[in-house]
Amino acid sequence: MDRIRIVGGQKLHGTIPISGAKNAALPLMIASLLTRETLSLQNVPALADVNMLVRILGHHGVDYSQNGRRVGEDEHAARAIHLCARDIVDTTAPYELVSKMRASFWVIAPLLARMGEARVSLPGGCAIGTRPVDLLLMALEKLGVEMEIEAGYVHAKAPKGLIGAEIAFPTVTVGGTHTAIMAAVLAKGHTVITNAAREPEVVDLATCLNKMGAKIKGVGQSRVEIEGVGSLTGAYHRVLSDRIEAGTYAMAAAMAGGDVMLEGAEPDLLGSALEAITQAGATVTTTNEGIRVQRNGAGLTAVDVSTAPFPGFPTDLQAQFMALMTMAKGRSRITETIFENRFMHVQELARLGAHIKLEGDVALVDGVKMLQGAPVMATDLRASVSLVIAALAAEGETVVNRVYHLDRGFEHLEAKLGRCGAVVERLSNPG
Ligand code: EPZ
Repeated sequence: MDRIRIVGGQKLHGTIPISGAKNAALPLMIASLLTRETLSLQNVPALADVNMLVRILGHHGVDYSQNGRRVGEDEHAARAIHLCARDIVDTTAPYELVSKMRASFWVIAPLLARMGEARVSLPGGCAIGTRPVDLLLMALEKLGVEMEIEAGYVHAKAPKGLIGAEIAFPTVTVGGTHTAIMAAVLAKGHTVITNAAREPEVVDLATCLNKMGAKIKGVGQSRVEIEGVGSLTGAYHRVLSDRIEAGTYAMAAAMAGGDVMLEGAEPDLLGSALEAITQAGATVTTTNEGIRVQRNGAGLTAVDVSTAPFPGFPTDLQAQFMALMTMAKGRSRITETIFENRFMHVQELARLGAHIKLEGDVALVDGVKMLQGAPVMATDLRASVSLVIAALAAEGETVVNRVYHLDRGFEHLEAKLGRCGAVVERLSNPG
């Protein structure tokens, strides 16, 4: 199993190109099941999760192709992929596939919309929490879906087709909103979703669906209205830039020090995180090219954050911000309000010398002068990358195990950091 070795202490200087967003690419790819025509997506990141979803969609009958690399093109140039679900050949999403990637549960919506039936394995819990799908199922039931849960599978049918309805989410759910939108675009009549997730990835999905002929209004607001249409067409769509990747490298630059340009990063998608980084002591400027993060000399200051749905501080940056706070002056209070178990990085950061106390959903981080490298591992991708950030600033060598978590969500991580002067290498075949 691969590991990543980092020798800390180098300031970061250079440009990091920001990839297309994993969490936008995945629902967009699933949306290809909604049409018989080809959906072409540009700026798709080369990630293990994307490859896994290609396999899952292939199982349902989706044809896949990818643009080749042209002569002279940068090996890290963004990919364009083409997905065509002319005929859906299987409406079952088996446990073996859904258990590998939770987001694949969302195929339930297009399968129902296109085929009137779906048999989809329940995804089960995961490292960051129990993560139920009750709200996704509630939304589908409102749209006229009848379902039974048997032997770990949801058997769903829409004998009269999907019918527009009012869907009021009691909590903001990204997956629930994706599911409700994908089902409602092909439902008969009008759907109103209230307390919808406003995450940029939801907006990207809805924007692409509108290009495909859907009638979605209120995109990016908490009240979304959808007028169902008979069928959708193919479209071209560029996947939005990855705000979590951008925020992660912004925190890396703030922690290690230096001057980094995050090329293609969109400041509007990162408001509260950039504010927190600025308060912590980095200088953040936005230019036509992207976001520039600098920190030279001055120390870091403790800042309190609490995760919240967009536009609040993202849960997917909580672990990285905690890494940053481990070397800030004073005590920082980090509250996780989205997932109940998303503090798995705390014990690993402690291995690097961090002082963190957990009190329920709050982590109290007392900054230390310096972290020391150590072997570490983590159980999800954001936790893993928080260890990478800490390692970049730590004294000495850190080896991050279970690199497959990083490969799920960070494209060319070593290359991107390496070109900014970080000493980071992938070790295959552990000794
Ligand atoms: C998406 O997960 C993201 N995944 C997550 O990113 C992200 O952390 C999360 O949204 C929150 O922003 C993808 O986009 C692939 P939710 P999702 O439904 O949709 C509860 C990463 O690291 N809930 O918004 O699964 C749930 O337990 C990943 O890239 C229910 O109770 O998250 C949680 O507490 C990890 N019942 C809260 O809502 C439901 O039916 C928000 O979850 C659904 C959700």
